[in-house]
Amino acid sequence: MIKNIHLNRDIAQLILLQRIELLNPFLKRVRKILGRYFFTNFASKYFISPKLIGSKYLESMLSEYNLLAKNLNFDNKNILSIGSGMCGLELIINSKSKNCFFSIIEKNYISKKVIYGWDNENKEAYNNLKLLEFFLIKNGMNKKSFKIYDFDFNQFPEKKFDFIISLYSLDYHYNFNLYLDYFKKILNKDTKLIFDTIRPDYFKTMFQDIEIIDFMQNTVHKSKRIICSNFSL
Ligand SMILES: C[S@@+](CC[C@H](N)C(=O)[O-])C[C@H]1O[C@@H](n2cnc3c(N)ncnc32)[C@H](O)[C@@H]1O
Repeated sequence: MIKNIHLNRDIAQLILLQRIELLNPFLKRVRKILGRYFFTNFASKYFISPKLIGSKYLESMLSEYNLLAKNLNFDNKNILSIGSGMCGLELIINSKSKNCFFSIIEKNYISKKVIYGWDNENKEAYNNLKLLEFFLIKNGMNKKSFKIYDFDFNQFPEKKFDFIISLYSLDYHYNFNLYLDYFKKILNKDTKLIFDTIRPDYFKTMFQDIEIIDFMQNTVHKSKRIICSNFSL
């Protein structure tokens, strides 16, 4: 079980950009007054306490894990994580389950002025894949238990997955259909896809089973967390 998370200032900055609900009222004001460019490139890195971000992130990832673990068992599973950020959730799944393997698709750059919303062109990103690998290993994940794929290289793993997890990324910030052709290759009847969306009904034509496991009231989009299975396209 992970009690503390090891991180440095650069990683804490990425975590804050990925999990903007960790922003404190002071930084919110800084962003409002000095603008998103200053916030993204300076304040989010130098006006923070990495230790505090680490402990809030761990708490938040534990609660994400507890919600998923009520519905899913991760032992011996092949997991695809899309837009996993710094993978705090994957670290917890790994520490609490036996024999999981994680394939991780993420982007490898930080937008100059991060704007959180629906991004039709899917230009926004806030990750660094070298730091992600460093963070995972530093926090106890075995190098043999994961592989990271850069979204922009467009070479995704083609194998069967038990779970695809994409919290606050797929269909939350960019259209699900961006991944549709890829999903047609890898989804089978039993694969469970977990993501956040404001339009669960849209997926009724693609999946025979859709279960809503949570309603987000405090986020910008008021989304629902859903588990989809039985892909039928
Ligand atoms: C709001 S963050 C959520 C991070 C993480 N899932 C979490 O819950 O903490 C969205 C993440 O999606 C990533 N992202 C954006 N476009 C992506 C794409 N097309 N494929 C994979 N990841 C993407 C961003 O770099 C960012 O790390």
